[in-house]
Amino acid sequence: MIIEGGQRLIGEIRVGGAKNAALPLLLAALLTDEEVILHNVPDLRDVTTVEKLLESLGVAITRKGSDAVINARGLNAIEAPYDLVKTMRASVLVMGPLLSRRLESKVSLPGGCAIGTRPINLHLNGFEALGAKISLEHGDIHAKAKKLKGAAIDFPIPTVTGTENLMMAACLAKGETVIENAAREPEVVELGRFINAMGGDISGLGTRTLTIRGVSELHGAEYSIMPDRVEAATYMAAAGVTQGNILLKGVPVASLKAVIDKLVEAGMEIKEENGNTRCLMIGPVRNVDVKTMPYPGFPTDMQAQLMAMMCFATGLSVISETVFENRFMHVGELKRMGADIHVEGHSAIIRGKGGLSGAPVMATDLRASASLVIAGLAAHGTTEISRIYHLDRGYEKMEEKLQSAGAVIRRVRE
Ligand code: UD1
Repeated sequence: MIIEGGQRLIGEIRVGGAKNAALPLLLAALLTDEEVILHNVPDLRDVTTVEKLLESLGVAITRKGSDAVINARGLNAIEAPYDLVKTMRASVLVMGPLLSRRLESKVSLPGGCAIGTRPINLHLNGFEALGAKISLEHGDIHAKAKKLKGAAIDFPIPTVTGTENLMMAACLAKGETVIENAAREPEVVELGRFINAMGGDISGLGTRTLTIRGVSELHGAEYSIMPDRVEAATYMAAAGVTQGNILLKGVPVASLKAVIDKLVEAGMEIKEENGNTRCLMIGPVRNVDVKTMPYPGFPTDMQAQLMAMMCFATGLSVISETVFENRFMHVGELKRMGADIHVEGHSAIIRGKGGLSGAPVMATDLRASASLVIAGLAAHGTTEISRIYHLDRGYEKMEEKLQSAGAVIRRVRE
């Protein structure tokens, strides 16, 4: 991706369907033999990976634009192939629904974004509590049960995909499952609503305690996926660093309170306009401190983008990452662009110098890539970002959306 920095972003950008909701919802289609219709499914590499994963299990999928029709009647396997799992950690979400339907599932230890060690012990403990036996053989995790029975599960820390996996494993189990310290992210709520639309019985969505009453079967459903809050927030930050004026369409505003509060503190004006969201920046970026937290706190998936923005402020900002270890890979690349950032344990101290200069940089993970795009859009000169395939995992047609708002950005083949 080659970006000529310094253009103000002015125009309209439409936000697509949420990646982190689309992935579990597509996999939840495994929970029924009936047809599931999903609308607003984003066109992303991670979504394609899940579709391939479902097809490898015998599931039929038809895509037409942002609609997906899924039918799992032909489900004939319990194993997620390694070549798919290794590219996307969220493939582990196949375990819950397969355990539900087949009482057995097998996946390789997941790869994906290289942020911290990212274990799945909490998912596995939860499956065990529901009655599954877990074994590790030849790099595969094998879960098998005679039957699944409701249980009390208390997470020591909230886990998003862990909560989702257990919701899917428990929704057809016998009896009631109570998950304490459940993740409250909007995408978890979205999955719960979808399972309920299929005839499931999950209550407490959006709170720390989820109660899942097992039902004997689920039926087909039609559902429109919520818009992507991280994509929306990324374009907000892009407007912020470029002194831009963007009308964002389809923003899940309620889910972005923590982010919008910070962007406003950083000098942006963000307000509702006829159902859309006006994102305006007049004047310099102001330095702010941020600490990432589980929802409703400031999302770790916006940490890198906010750090890029802080490089354009003048003065100190401290960004603390409390959700993941080792999620500062973008720091080295931002430094290549002239940033003054010092990492100390879980915190990055950014001494904003009011700008950056374009440089060749390398994308290391999905959100780190987005932070480099933000940096490049406002930097002096040309920024060349390689390994841009990370971006395609989570941002739909990013360069086209930015071009439509006046950015000088293009993709070239390496
Ligand atoms: C999900 C999101 C990801 C986001 C993250 C945090 C998807 C597909 N991905 O990832 O974009 O950055 O939530 O909002 O929705 N942990 C354990 N053991 C486990 C599970 C998690 O120790 O079994 C730890 C993790 O290492 C991490 C913390 O719990 O430190 C939170 O991780 P988790 O919420 O599970 O993140 P993901 O579900 O992987």
